[in-house]
Amino acid sequence: MRYGKYLLVILLFAACIPAAYSQDALIVLKHKEMGVHQRPPVEFNHEKHTVNFQCDRCHHDYDKFLNNVSSDPQPCSACHGAQAVRGMMSLTDAFHAQCKNCHDEMRVRNIPGGPVMCGECHVRN
Ligand code: HEC
Ligand code: HEC
Ligand code: HEC
Ligand code: HEC
Repeated sequence: MRYGKYLLVILLFAACIPAAYSQDALIVLKHKEMGVHQRPPVEFNHEKHTVNFQCDRCHHDYDKFLNNVSSDPQPCSACHGAQAVRGMMSLTDAFHAQCKNCHDEMRVRNIPGGPVMCGECHVRN
């Protein structure tokens, strides 16, 4: 019993480690950086999207030669701010470009992709 307390502390600590780096299967995208939202929040099935794509495909960062050196596990908002700055898209444009471009690319390749219409991502419940 003497060590019970310490064991509990260690277990609680250990339980927090995976939580910090794990991803929710379904992420509801509703960034406060975008202020009052005009559109309903977007449900993004993260888990489904990791079946065929490598993490760095979306979690990118670039060195000066534009090699993708990965930004996993940072959120997009770590680099893309509310407003566009030189050489860096705004957060809203970053989401639209990444989500829609890939869905378009899949369509071109005849692979079932995701939606490209406003109301299919910004779903009214
Ligand atoms: C492929 C999915 C997708 C499609 C299609 C899409 N959006 Fe979005 N949109 C997003 C995501 C993801 C965000 C970021 C939402 C957040 O995190 O708050 C966003 C953000 C926004 C925002 C800023 C937040 C807000 O609600 O004010 C607006 C405005 C917006 N979209 C309008 C549109 C319009 C208009 C269209 C159609 C021309 C459209 N979107 C199509 C995924 C999509
Ligand atoms: C198809 C694109 C895509 C792929 C592939 C992807 N992610 Fe994500 N991931 C996202 C988006 C979008 C978010 C939400 C980011 C935000 O809200 O700024 C996210 C969020 C996360 C978060 C939470 C970040 C935070 O602090 O909010 C982690 C951790 C993460 N992803 C890790 C991974 C790992 C590990 C892989 C590979 C197994 C992966 N992702 C693959 C798009 C992707
Ligand atoms: C560590 C910083 C960083 C993070 C985090 C980041 N980006 Fe980027 N992103 C960049 C840089 C730098 C560029 C510009 C590259 C260039 O010079 O063309 C860029 C460019 C883009 C572009 C333009 C096309 C391209 O791929 O070059 C899109 C779209 C984009 N980001 C979406 C996202 C999304 C969505 C997320 C989150 C899943 C994200 N970014 C996370 C740094 C980041
Ligand atoms: C690198 C390519 C890629 C990116 C980036 C991407 N998607 Fe997808 N998306 C797909 C593919 C492929 C499917 C079809 C998967 C399936 O049905 O099994 C899909 C399916 C979907 C679906 C419908 C299936 C479902 O129930 O989830 C939605 C909604 C969706 N994506 C939203 C998004 C949003 C929002 C983003 C940006 C945050 C995004 N996608 C970024 C490739 C991508």
